[in-house]
Amino acid sequence: MPRGGPRASCLDRLLETDRQEYLDRASELPADVARKRSVIRALEWTGETFGHHVRFAEIVLDQISDVPDPKILELGAGHGALSRKLLDWHPTARLTVTDIEPASVAAIADSDVGAHPRATVRQMDATALDAADGEFDLAVFALSFHHLPPAAAARVIAEGTRAADTLLIIDLPRPPAPLHLVRLATMLPWAPLVPFVHDGVISSLRAYSPAALRALAAHAGEDIDIELRGGLFSPQVAVAARR
Ligand SMILES: C[S@@+](CC[C@H](N)C(=O)[O-])C[C@H]1O[C@@H](n2cnc3c(N)ncnc32)[C@H](O)[C@@H]1O
Repeated sequence: MPRGGPRASCLDRLLETDRQEYLDRASELPADVARKRSVIRALEWTGETFGHHVRFAEIVLDQISDVPDPKILELGAGHGALSRKLLDWHPTARLTVTDIEPASVAAIADSDVGAHPRATVRQMDATALDAADGEFDLAVFALSFHHLPPAAAARVIAEGTRAADTLLIIDLPRPPAPLHLVRLATMLPWAPLVPFVHDGVISSLRAYSPAALRALAAHAGEDIDIELRGGLFSPQVAVAARR
């Protein structure tokens, strides 16, 4: 399925890539690990500077406002800044903070998040969760869903809605194709020079549209409902749950 959804236009279908971001490369060569860490640090810095961590924490807390002592699973945590905010702001929330990348998990485990009494840090693949059915009140996957090709993305929806009552996906919006072209044109000159921009261009080409998210949820399970909001100039938010 195209990232723009089953009925994506011809132009939209051209604005896709199978090229990997630095973050997705499996290489454990020191130079590649260092480049991945630099992208994660840049994400943490931009999230702090432009308020993404605050905004995402507000969305999470809004979603579980009626759960007294919520158990939250963060998938693809990267740097752990979202979990840090949730631990700071919610007096009783328990966080399981995870990522697939061993270096990121180790860095989070070594930080104040790892030392927090209400946090557990673990390596976990969002497509195959090592968790019991309904173990969590909410699972959140922020700025990560576009990393996965459609089959794996549908598995995240199936797994997230199995292990948690609600799966919250916060991701980049996929702009209409003409606007997308303009955005890419402004980013492309910097892509060979700055690893963060390189990954940003690929992320943009791999972002899913609302139609694609609906199709992925339908493929993940007939009993899964998905609600979508935001997009275009704000992050795209998808809330999925089993009936
Ligand atoms: C762009 S970073 C987002 C980091 C952070 N959530 C944020 O909002 O800045 C994407 C993260 O997804 C992780 N990731 C990619 N594939 C994954 C998978 N299958 N399961 C869990 N995490 C994954 C990467 O290791 C990376 O840390």
